[in-house]
Amino acid sequence: MRYLRELKCRNAATKNHRSHASLDWNSLAGILSRVFCAALLVALFTTPSIVAAQQTAADGPLSAEQVKQRVDVLLSQMTLDEKIGQLNQAPGISFQDAPKPDDLIAHGKAASVLWVSDPHEINRLQRIAVERSRLHIPLLIGLDVVQGYRTIFPDPLGMAATWDPKLVEQEQTIAAQEARAAGINWTFAPMVDIARDARWGRIVEGAGEDPFLGAAMARAQVWGFQGRQLGGPEHVLATVKHFAGYGAAEGGRDYDASYIPDEQMWNVYLPPFKAAIDAGVGSLMSAYMDLNDVPASGNRFLLHAVLREAWHFDGFVVSDANAVGSLVTHGFARDKEDAAYRALTAGVNMDMVSSSYLDHLAELVQPGKVTMAQIDAAVRPILATKIRLGLFEHPYFDEAKTEAVLSAPQHKQFARTAAQRSIVLLKNDGDLLPLAKGKYATIAVVGPLADAKVELKGFWGGIIAANQDEPVTSVLEGIRANVGAGTRVEYAKGPGIRRSIVSFFEQFGLIHEEGAQSTSEAQTEFDKAVATARRSDLTVLVLGESLLGSGEAASRASLDLQGRQQELLEAVCALGKPVVLVLVNGRPLNVAWAVKKVPAIVEAWIPGVQGGAAVADVLFGDVNPGGKLPISWPRSVGQEPIYYAHNLTQAPETDPHFTSRYHDELTSPQFPFGYGLSYTTFLYSNLRISNTQPKVGEAFEISVDVENTGKTAGDTVAQLYVHQRAGSASRPVRQLKGFERTALTPGEKKTIHFTLGKSELSFWTADRKAWVEEPEAFDVWVGDDSTASLHGQFKVTAD
Ligand code: NOJ
Repeated sequence: MRYLRELKCRNAATKNHRSHASLDWNSLAGILSRVFCAALLVALFTTPSIVAAQQTAADGPLSAEQVKQRVDVLLSQMTLDEKIGQLNQAPGISFQDAPKPDDLIAHGKAASVLWVSDPHEINRLQRIAVERSRLHIPLLIGLDVVQGYRTIFPDPLGMAATWDPKLVEQEQTIAAQEARAAGINWTFAPMVDIARDARWGRIVEGAGEDPFLGAAMARAQVWGFQGRQLGGPEHVLATVKHFAGYGAAEGGRDYDASYIPDEQMWNVYLPPFKAAIDAGVGSLMSAYMDLNDVPASGNRFLLHAVLREAWHFDGFVVSDANAVGSLVTHGFARDKEDAAYRALTAGVNMDMVSSSYLDHLAELVQPGKVTMAQIDAAVRPILATKIRLGLFEHPYFDEAKTEAVLSAPQHKQFARTAAQRSIVLLKNDGDLLPLAKGKYATIAVVGPLADAKVELKGFWGGIIAANQDEPVTSVLEGIRANVGAGTRVEYAKGPGIRRSIVSFFEQFGLIHEEGAQSTSEAQTEFDKAVATARRSDLTVLVLGESLLGSGEAASRASLDLQGRQQELLEAVCALGKPVVLVLVNGRPLNVAWAVKKVPAIVEAWIPGVQGGAAVADVLFGDVNPGGKLPISWPRSVGQEPIYYAHNLTQAPETDPHFTSRYHDELTSPQFPFGYGLSYTTFLYSNLRISNTQPKVGEAFEISVDVENTGKTAGDTVAQLYVHQRAGSASRPVRQLKGFERTALTPGEKKTIHFTLGKSELSFWTADRKAWVEEPEAFDVWVGDDSTASLHGQFKVTAD
């Protein structure tokens, strides 16, 4: 959201600025914090073309041909300015001393508004579009509904840790219901950027490092947001973002250039986007950064060759916010006119708030630099999407019904389930967990995140006005409610945490970390925390990251615990009493010391409004944790980027003279990809391969037995990895190609079946610049993390 700063700077510098391009962040904060207004029902104003549209839509989902006909009718009525208007997204939030986007909308110069979340305001703006604009084309109302709208669920990385795509689909179905009930019809999610470097702050917004898991999460989210077919009244349009390679930012610095060879692009970074498109996603967001020296929002390879030619994507592309304008900042476009030209001709349909299209496209059409056919081609999928969404028939929503949807009790219950299933048990020496209720006379709950509330919602959850007054259950509250009679719970916060460099989201007044403490205040809190732990029989330390510690523009050079948390951890451990460490964070952190000294470590991610209750459920054994890491967890920051699916080197780890390593750090991660403990144990056995010599293109089955060998019911995630031993390119040591989360009661045994075939065994080879499935020998492993040892082999044979 660099655009926030850029818009502000530009507005300060430009006296005669266009009113729609300047933001007043105080007004914005005011608008974001408004409460819902009274009910309003507005009758749909109709024109002949819209009447025709209604008649068609009443017959059920429209065919592609029907949609096309309606687009043709609209296009034939539109002036060039109106067409360009449909390529423009206006900021929907208030402006400095200027009016709202009302005039733009009334004159048909905005297809969409960004970031309006006051339901009454949404209906008001929609009414302007439908009643006052010449062609009555409704607006797309876009907001980042990433991990819920009113009910905030775990962050996407936490949801990926569930390894449960059905749950993820349900989560985003609820998010869509709530958002749509409040007038939002377009979300900028899912974010599917593969990220292999935890320094990158936005690792929290995606599904982690793996393209197979990432693709499953992408698909599930698209189905959740949109339903299986675009247009359901309780669903929203989804946007898969940020196309593409944003997660590979050099050094993990947000917005920095990515350099990704084609081989990595096709095999690692693109598959989740392809999965989202195959699932029917209606829109896609082009990223900010340079990809191989060409900014993603002006990148013809991405937006044309891949998206339209190879994948036949028929939705529309929206730029990231101000990304079209930023083509100038990148040193790619000469000026805004050139930026508009390059973005449009590369394949960006809609300009998110930079106003470059609005201000310059007409100038490009007159001399013929951009043709009317190009403009029409850009407008078509936007109009088609509005038609498919049913917005012409139902542009408004019933504000009287909003609150009932937003406060549905089952949503809160689901938030608890989702958080429970996302939690990963990282360490549990001597079975310290689960804590027996009543065993400890006093439990201390200590740390800056012990009683945290907004921190459990994270940035995208915390910024949405609609949930500001919603109760959040902190870890402390969860423990108090769950601990049972006979145990006293004591709380001490310890020194606070906040970023050393203030986030610009905070500078703009959008969201706030807790206030800074003086050194002496922090010391007082520190001493209180240690004293509280000393008086207790066991301490639950809740540590992690501050509210804006991860997320956009929140990259870090260090993965150490922020502030004085490490010191607090060491001081509490020095007391010699049992300690449980609960982590609340958006990325893996350096917990190497804790792994050596702390008996139990629980990863809670950013767990949402019911996160504290879910943590307590796990601590006291009401729930057996079954989440698994969607990322390799580094021992230290110097290992980044680290991922399990790396290639073998000429001196691999199996070689006695293994030299492909740091001389001061191990090569293995602290915790491997796919890892997570349970309160029970599982045994994987009996790996069978239905056909050990399948032909190229032939599907076959791998099955395995898994048994719960412990005394507690629990979930395991069966994970299947393959390795191609030789071929036209070196292949990763292992690649995830199947997984299934399954519940087993004590002693229960199940057989899990996986199918392998062309799509799992093919890869894009740099040798032929094509997808191939090669007749070669393969290893296969199944188990409960990426180091699984149960092994088999097969050989794909030539057709
Ligand atoms: C910028 C972010 O990069 C993107 O993820 C988000 O959707 C837009 N801002 C709109 O809020």
